[in-house]
Amino acid sequence: MTPTAIRADLLDFVADPGLDDRASPAVRWRPDHWLLIDAHGRIAAVQPEAPGDDWHKVDHAGRLLLPGFIDSHVHAPQLDVIASWGTELLDWLNTYTFPAEAAYADPAVAQAGAERFLDALLAHGTTSAAVFATVHRVSADALLAGAQARGMRLITGKVLMDTHAPDNLRDDVVQAEGHCEALIARWHGQGRLAYAVTPRFAATSSEAQLAMAGRLLTRHPGLYLQTHVAENRAEVAWVAELFPQARSYLDVYARHGLLTERAVLAHGIWLDDVDRRALADAGAQIAFCPSSNLFLGSGLFGWAQARAAGVNVSLASDVGGGTALCQLRTLADGYKVQALAGQRVTAWALLHGATRGAAEALRLGHEIGRLEPGLLADVCVWDWAQGPVGQRRDALARGLHERVFAWLTLGDERHLVEARVAGVARHTRPDSA
Ligand code: GUN
Ligand code: ZN
Repeated sequence: MTPTAIRADLLDFVADPGLDDRASPAVRWRPDHWLLIDAHGRIAAVQPEAPGDDWHKVDHAGRLLLPGFIDSHVHAPQLDVIASWGTELLDWLNTYTFPAEAAYADPAVAQAGAERFLDALLAHGTTSAAVFATVHRVSADALLAGAQARGMRLITGKVLMDTHAPDNLRDDVVQAEGHCEALIARWHGQGRLAYAVTPRFAATSSEAQLAMAGRLLTRHPGLYLQTHVAENRAEVAWVAELFPQARSYLDVYARHGLLTERAVLAHGIWLDDVDRRALADAGAQIAFCPSSNLFLGSGLFGWAQARAAGVNVSLASDVGGGTALCQLRTLADGYKVQALAGQRVTAWALLHGATRGAAEALRLGHEIGRLEPGLLADVCVWDWAQGPVGQRRDALARGLHERVFAWLTLGDERHLVEARVAGVARHTRPDSA
């Protein structure tokens, strides 16, 4: 690409800002600076003055530039059932999700769905994600090929589910292991792609399948593990019946060697202190999914307790349990869930959990999440405000935290001006010139 310099208000984090410090020194605020992107799509420098004539210049003065958002837990096929009415988790899976996912056995459906999903991520300001495909190998293949074509950092895998699921969505241990091995050989470590061993949740995998998942992790260093844990009280009770020998829901995974530093466990609402200690000791992360937790009525995630125990926490949409791909909406819901849980979290805590914090938890801090020379230029430019209400609120904001908090509370994907992946503009709002 042509070396490119972008002028905007730059915001990122040099450390973890904690949960409630509005004046945190971890915030790096560089208003009206230039971000220089080299020919390989890496950040070359950040400086207050315009660079020389050999740089192509893009002037977004008066707009906000952030690292592209990272969504640490999202289901590609569930765009087809986003905003489905009337159910808690287990009924929602049976009524809406499983029938929709069955369609992805068809390679044409899987291909079109993957393209639609990846383009939608970019159009909502998310440049990297850990994604659930379906149980079908073709659905993971299509996502990985689509991400490769777009240069995106993507972590995904075929879902493992060999029990307590409809016939047309069940695999078996031998077939699933073969498909995982083939996907790993083809994609894992290719460019910006990584494979995630993806048992859907404890209830839909046999002991033998969970053991196979553990074997894959030991056989192939650097693989991710993604699953769900302790999301809903009926689910927790069911898992306790299915695995009476386990101390807790989380312990089902621990017993099979699935708690690693590259493990992403969604929700973790109904955990206890022993579970939190096990997660912290493993270096695993909880993907906090506030939109989904509100929509499905699952409960209030204890972010402060997780943090006190030393557990890594990232912010995730969990579409289609969650109702928006835009991480601004996820963050705004995160504030509200924490308010209900008795904790006022800062804009910094929320933004960090969808940028640098998620990158570090995914062990990708050397590649994404900050505006730092050497990192890939996955960056998004946003309007500070849209329309009379947002513009008035923005004009009245006193201080940076107030301004950024109003932005993330009132903002959405219509505020997104452009999304760049490794420096290349992959989404541009038509009226943004
Ligand atoms: N638990 C098992 N599968 C799912 C899923 O698809 N979405 C959510 N939110 N929870 C799950
Ligand atoms: Zn999920």
